[in-house]
Amino acid sequence: MAQLAERPAAATPRIGKQGDACVMVIFGAAGDLTARLLIPALYNLARADLLSKEFAVLGVARAPMTDEDFRKRILDDVKEYCGECINSETWENFSRRFYYFAGNFGDDQLYPKIKDRLVQIDRDHSTHQNFFYYMATAPSFFGPIVEKLAAKGLMEQSNDHWRRVIIEKPFGHDLESAKALNQQLLKLADEKQIYRIDHYLGKETVQNIMAFRFANGIFEPIWNRRYIDHVQISVAETVGVEGRGSYFEHAGSLRDMVPNHIMQLISLTAMEPPISFDANAVRDEQAKILHAIQPISDQEVLTRSVRGQYGEGTAGGENVPGYRSEPDVAPDSRTETFVAMKLLIDNWRWADVPFYLRTGKRMPARNTHIVIQFRQAPFVLFRDTSVEHLMPNQLVLHIQPEEGISLQFAAKVPGPVMRLGTVDMNFEYQEYFGKQPSTGYERLLHDCMIGDQTLFQRADMVEAGWTVVNPMLDLWKALPPRNFPNYASGTWGPKEADELLERDGRRWRNFEK
Ligand SMILES: NC(=O)c1ccc[n+]([C@@H]2O[C@H](COP(=O)([O-])OP(=O)(O)OC[C@H]3O[C@@H](n4cnc5c(N)ncnc54)[C@H](OP(=O)(O)O)[C@@H]3O)[C@@H](O)[C@H]2O)c1
Repeated sequence: MAQLAERPAAATPRIGKQGDACVMVIFGAAGDLTARLLIPALYNLARADLLSKEFAVLGVARAPMTDEDFRKRILDDVKEYCGECINSETWENFSRRFYYFAGNFGDDQLYPKIKDRLVQIDRDHSTHQNFFYYMATAPSFFGPIVEKLAAKGLMEQSNDHWRRVIIEKPFGHDLESAKALNQQLLKLADEKQIYRIDHYLGKETVQNIMAFRFANGIFEPIWNRRYIDHVQISVAETVGVEGRGSYFEHAGSLRDMVPNHIMQLISLTAMEPPISFDANAVRDEQAKILHAIQPISDQEVLTRSVRGQYGEGTAGGENVPGYRSEPDVAPDSRTETFVAMKLLIDNWRWADVPFYLRTGKRMPARNTHIVIQFRQAPFVLFRDTSVEHLMPNQLVLHIQPEEGISLQFAAKVPGPVMRLGTVDMNFEYQEYFGKQPSTGYERLLHDCMIGDQTLFQRADMVEAGWTVVNPMLDLWKALPPRNFPNYASGTWGPKEADELLERDGRRWRNFEK
């Protein structure tokens, strides 16, 4: 009889090694990202004993604050966003490592002062002069800050100390600007020092795509064009722009989600097995997929992509306004809040297998998932039964909010006649492994502290992602939409998105919960 594998204890740490001794300098330490994600992630690492005893943080922003004020502020952040009681001993040991320095990023005089402060912190906490700089600030500052750090010698490494920089998204706003930022950074630092973050890769289920594919002998042999009919990737949000209208007006859904998050999901789903888990071995295979995505001509942009903008409707049972009535949004805005497209990957494994992608705001459910639809079995055996058609098998990788994997297959409905029903075999991460407190940033911050770049994007990957979407950006700009808003809040996007699949005899799988 088959036996269930033993469940690991819920509290088993996912990563066992402590980070290197170092100072993390947060540029933008008074902002939303720092409060909601970075500080809680650092606290979770401290609780799991994954921070070095020789670790410290220097926050930088304009808001005038003393070290003590900053420590009080992060206490509030941890209370609000960690949702766990604070252990006074861990807190004491954690908070005394935090320092703050007020200044303007544009001011050249700020950097020698940061340097002096770092020398002192390094001395007090024995951080071996290892520094990493987190750009938790507007993208226009990424290049200039690194430039000024380099000018003060703060990017210089040697055999006994390292210097790294974490760059937040968005990395550029089109192909040209992404290339320009790469060129600027690569003049100041080596690729090995640059950590382009995409927090999607901090999620367990995203990392699990590789484990699922390459640790299970049963799936890899059928993971190709012979057995797979198509792939769907959906990133659906129920929220609108949530007070970020001025940012979103310049970004739009295509820029915001596709070149980064969705390209990561495609590359992990489609890549060849890497020769090892070495950072460049994995990223080489991911990059090959991104380069193999078939370029889209202007004509194909019109037939293979769909853009949408939400109008008024409902969300969570409440009436909500349309995008054009949101704060800081132009009343005649042409910014898309929904995008869908069909891509093809020109390689031996995936030739002619469509990858359908969609992402949108104000959808009926918050849900990120990848659907792998397998080819249908021949119907011939069932033609003289009451079965009218066969449902294809679908394997679904659920990324958020629930993390798990489900397999849909047909089974006979009990009874004297042959009737088929569709059943699901479900694995839920949380049910099996227990819940780990996580923001998604823990793993990525820890990886930066130990020098593992596997889950960070390399320059060529970022540029390959922009190369895919650039024709759409150009054509959409040249041909402004005439039918916005074209979907009601609380629906699955414009009808053209359904038609994109219907033309190919397929349809989206929607998860309402
Ligand atoms: N928030 C998120 O959930 C999230 C998620 C993913 C990625 N990101 C990315 O993370 C970055 C930061 O986002 P955020 O939401 O945290 O932005 P934010 O709330 O606007 O914070 C920006 C920070 O930069 C500081 N700042 C702005 N101009 C400055 C200047 N001239 N000199 C010194 N400090 C300055 C601000 O503090 P002062 O006003 O005190 O100077 C603040 O601490 C952005 O690139 C964003 O795209 C954010």
